[in-house]
Amino acid sequence: MLTDLEKQEIDTELSRVATKASASVDALNIVQRHRGWVSDEALKDVASMLDMTADELDAVATFYSFIFRRPVGRHVILVCDSISCYVMGYNPLLDVIKSRLGIAFGETTEDKRFTLLPISCLGACDRAPAMMVDEDLYGPVTAEMMEEILEQYK
Ligand code: FES
Repeated sequence: MLTDLEKQEIDTELSRVATKASASVDALNIVQRHRGWVSDEALKDVASMLDMTADELDAVATFYSFIFRRPVGRHVILVCDSISCYVMGYNPLLDVIKSRLGIAFGETTEDKRFTLLPISCLGACDRAPAMMVDEDLYGPVTAEMMEEILEQYK
């Protein structure tokens, strides 16, 4: 069940758009900001507010890599696996992250600090290899920079 605050924030978004469906991504982001991810139950409640089916809204949610449909850690690391980053050092970068955190793609560290996910081009090909931690973009990222980057996220 959505909280009163979540409903209020979604209503505010709805007041700004011409069609309810146009508020889909913003509404999902509101829920994710409050809960860290979007559960099936929350998705159904949001869909109902938008006069959409859960399947329709889920299609939107799964299209956007930044909407998490499963629980994630306090910080999410998104590593670009598209062509420019692949060529410029994706594999060594990924190896360092995996060995430093002891997790693979789709996994979360035991202390719930980090979740590691792949992502398609971040639009920062000139900074390849690129990655994001939460809202922050990094690139070009070297193995040497990794410890310093991760230390910023507790
Ligand atoms: S290919 Fe990685 S940012 Fe574009």
